[in-house]
Amino acid sequence: MMLQSPSEIDIVRAAASKINSVDFDNLSFGNTFTDHMLICDYKEGKWQKPIIKPYEPFLIDPSAKVFHYGQAIFEGMKAYKDENNDVWLFRPDQNLDRFNKSAVRMAMPEVPEDIFIGGLKTIVDLERDWVKKGIGNTLYIRPFMIAIGSGVIAQPSTQYRFMIILSPARSYYSGEVKVIIAEHYSRAANGGIGAAKAAGNYSAQFYPQKLAQEQGFQQIIWTDDATHTKLEEAGTMNVFFRINDTLYTAPTSERILDGVTRKSLIDLAKREGIKVEERSVLVDELVAAAKDGSLKEIFGAGTAAVVNPIVGFQYKEHYYELPKLESSYALELKDKLTKIQYKQAEDTFGWTVKI
Ligand code: COI
Repeated sequence: MMLQSPSEIDIVRAAASKINSVDFDNLSFGNTFTDHMLICDYKEGKWQKPIIKPYEPFLIDPSAKVFHYGQAIFEGMKAYKDENNDVWLFRPDQNLDRFNKSAVRMAMPEVPEDIFIGGLKTIVDLERDWVKKGIGNTLYIRPFMIAIGSGVIAQPSTQYRFMIILSPARSYYSGEVKVIIAEHYSRAANGGIGAAKAAGNYSAQFYPQKLAQEQGFQQIIWTDDATHTKLEEAGTMNVFFRINDTLYTAPTSERILDGVTRKSLIDLAKREGIKVEERSVLVDELVAAAKDGSLKEIFGAGTAAVVNPIVGFQYKEHYYELPKLESSYALELKDKLTKIQYKQAEDTFGWTVKI
């Protein structure tokens, strides 16, 4: 894919850069932002001219729909720097596509490609010094859209703000990830907004996640809302299960996010000759496989989390520890994926896009 430039974009540069005050070796995820942000407003039925300006807070009317009804969507992407100092995006077309699907589901206007992709190109290029070399160093990109129209009537807004902010990042999870399988709470239901990257999908998980964290678990593996028998996703990442030598992951549906890392890992695994099945794994099947030793691995996959091995899971008061493997699909696939992203391996899929 060629990156399109926006037809017009105003740039107001920051008077000074904060970059020298940042400790790039000790970043906590999502807390440090670059010098600039992109803003593009939608009003009177049209997208206005995008502007890139210094990163700063802004004013919104207290009655704006985003505050009252959560009309908000976002994406998560990353930029990577190779050994020649070139900066790359990974499958940005997939993020644009998903963003606009989320927009439609949330009754928001779609963002045109020249604003989304062209805006990304311009702002990441401007902030390229913030993308550090070396596997593990990334610039996390957060495009988002909020409803800024005022008035507490419960109807879609007529005014929106699309923004891109950038945050240098290393890993999302530090340390071991243990999960608990949901028995009561649900992330999404058929007919709901589970497939959209809507802000409310994440805040709805905060309370059950807090309860899980109090019990020592970093994440919840969600089960289907109707029966709580099928394993779905983990909220900040899709989930893969390796039983014997086959990888299973839940099929995308109205309840599951169509993850870019998920679909890339499926393609990579198939290329490596690993058998992959997109089908729901039952909780009972997982427990039986953990008991008879055929459950080899569980791992999460997402832009922020990359590929995150899970060391064990809790279900109905019982904790099942996963074996420590010499050769793990998670680590093998993570290595293959990151080498493509950092241009250390040939990108036969055509996924990487130069800034
Ligand atoms: C991402 O992986 O980029 C996400 O959007 C998950 C987010 C909760 C950090």
